[in-house]
Amino acid sequence: MRLKDKVTLITGASRGIGRASAIALAKEGATVVAVARTQKDLDALVGEIEAAGGKAKAVVADVTDSAQVKKSVDDTVAELGRIDILVNNAGMGGYRPFLEWTEEDYDQIMATNTKSTWLYCKDVIPHMLKAGGGQIINVASVAGLQGYPSEAIYCASKFAQIALTQALDREFFERNIKVTAICPGGVETHFALGDGRTAGEDKLKGFSTAEDVAEAVVMAALPRERTRIVNIIMRPMNEAS
Ligand SMILES: NC(=O)c1ccc[n+]([C@@H]2O[C@H](COP(=O)([O-])OP(=O)(O)OC[C@H]3O[C@@H](n4cnc5c(N)ncnc54)[C@H](OP(=O)(O)O)[C@@H]3O)[C@@H](O)[C@H]2O)c1
Repeated sequence: MRLKDKVTLITGASRGIGRASAIALAKEGATVVAVARTQKDLDALVGEIEAAGGKAKAVVADVTDSAQVKKSVDDTVAELGRIDILVNNAGMGGYRPFLEWTEEDYDQIMATNTKSTWLYCKDVIPHMLKAGGGQIINVASVAGLQGYPSEAIYCASKFAQIALTQALDREFFERNIKVTAICPGGVETHFALGDGRTAGEDKLKGFSTAEDVAEAVVMAALPRERTRIVNIIMRPMNEAS
């Protein structure tokens, strides 16, 4: 168990990459605080982790709401003493021609993917500084490294998330806070199969699995005295780089 008793708060843990990562982190001994909006999915996750002998807690919160974010952080620190690892994974997107996106879509995507990352970092970093360090993992995307058609707003939100990662890494590494961006390509989840795509499309068949990304999350979370991982880029075998 390489992450024994590390207090780990992970957002978007109710399904997909977040759920798989929560399970993988718990298997390594981490105490997982699983955040999302859907109580029943979080309860099922906690049940699965506990049945396997792990430790987890469900926290219902909307990551776009600053008061709910702060409460989830404050409650975790009050109950468990600290946050060693923060995984900003909650996200949303979609695949539609540029001219079909609305202002409401823009605000929702930016709030879910980018603002939430900023809010959690802002609220967790003071606790990490007090504790002498910590690890932040932002689940970004290859769409944060290059633009893709039909995904303009999503790409903008993910470029911004990577900018936050790079800036925070440079600002805080000397105080032992490590900040990592994980950039998956296509991953077979609700997100990739949803809005604007059809399950069964040939392209989706060879996508990475949520468990593949979860392995990268664990790798980034492992303690290392002399190294920090700033960026991990992943590609499914059916996708060029
Ligand atoms: N799948 C891909 O192809 C792919 C590729 C690269 C990067 N990513 C990134 O990976 C991350 C996870 O995506 P996924 O594929 O696992 O998607 P997913 O299956 O749709 O899961 C998204 C998660 O985010 C949560 N969430 C969404 N909005 C939220 C909000 N306002 N407050 C709290 N939780 C919220 C959802 O939970 P609730 O609905 O219960 O709140 C869910 O747990 C995202 O950041 C995504 O951009 C995905």
